[in-house]
Amino acid sequence: MKLRAPAKVNLSLRILGKRADGFHNLESLVTPISLADEISVATSIGQGVRVHCDDPAVPQDDSNLAAIAARQFHSHTGIRFDARIGIRKRIPSGAGLGGGSSDAAAVLVALDSIFETHLGPDGLEKIAANIGSDVPFFIRRVPAWMRGRGEEIAPTDFSQKISLLLLKPPFAVATPWAYKRWSESIELPGVDYGVQRWADLEFVNDLERPAFEKYTLLPVMKAWLRSQPECRVALMSGSGSTMFAVCASRSAARAVSVRAIEHFGSSIWTAVCDAPG
Ligand code: C5P
Repeated sequence: MKLRAPAKVNLSLRILGKRADGFHNLESLVTPISLADEISVATSIGQGVRVHCDDPAVPQDDSNLAAIAARQFHSHTGIRFDARIGIRKRIPSGAGLGGGSSDAAAVLVALDSIFETHLGPDGLEKIAANIGSDVPFFIRRVPAWMRGRGEEIAPTDFSQKISLLLLKPPFAVATPWAYKRWSESIELPGVDYGVQRWADLEFVNDLERPAFEKYTLLPVMKAWLRSQPECRVALMSGSGSTMFAVCASRSAARAVSVRAIEHFGSSIWTAVCDAPG
């Protein structure tokens, strides 16, 4: 079975406070985007999980979230199977785009279909919450407000399609570090962390504060994007390191992408994509 596993961007991410279990309560408006990994899942009689990914930097052992998803499906349903999972990676890792979480959710959706377990979105979201905070969102893969640790999903929709440019510098930000550093981090002077408004949406990311303190290229990229005439809004997605801009159109986003590579150098990864309207 083959599925697309879309990336996400957090249009806004507010941290409400630290919880007793060490996680943080948040309120985040998240949307799937057209950039996607390609997942294949083949099952046979037996018991085991093998993952193959075309990107050698991605772990192919039991620590891969897609392998964890297959094992969680087995624990939940009691069904024994041998799974071979293939991942064609298009979404960079450590990017704040949810690639690993989306791959895991796609494996759950595939197994529910292959074994006709009829767990459906509600049942799969519960299994997904054991895998990672972002995984439940990728079960329905529609624009949604994410609350709690990330497991409370309230679907929403936007009045129009959103054209996006993604820029990722050649380093990753570790999510656990960004959350841990959040409460003690400070705002860098001269950097605008404020709410940006476009259409009927508000854009802000509380994880910019810790990420910008350590990775000082990120606020430079944000300011540069905001100064481009085609960009309406620019900020970081999730815990970074991807910065994204809402652009007037896909062709406008492509023009800014070319200029970004001229400006920041060819080690910057870029993608032009859109979020559903
Ligand atoms: O749930 P997930 O494994 O994706 O989260 C990675 C790390 O990010 C957690 O171990 C935790 O340190 C932090 N986190 C958090 N609060 C959240 C989500 C993630 O503190 N709501």
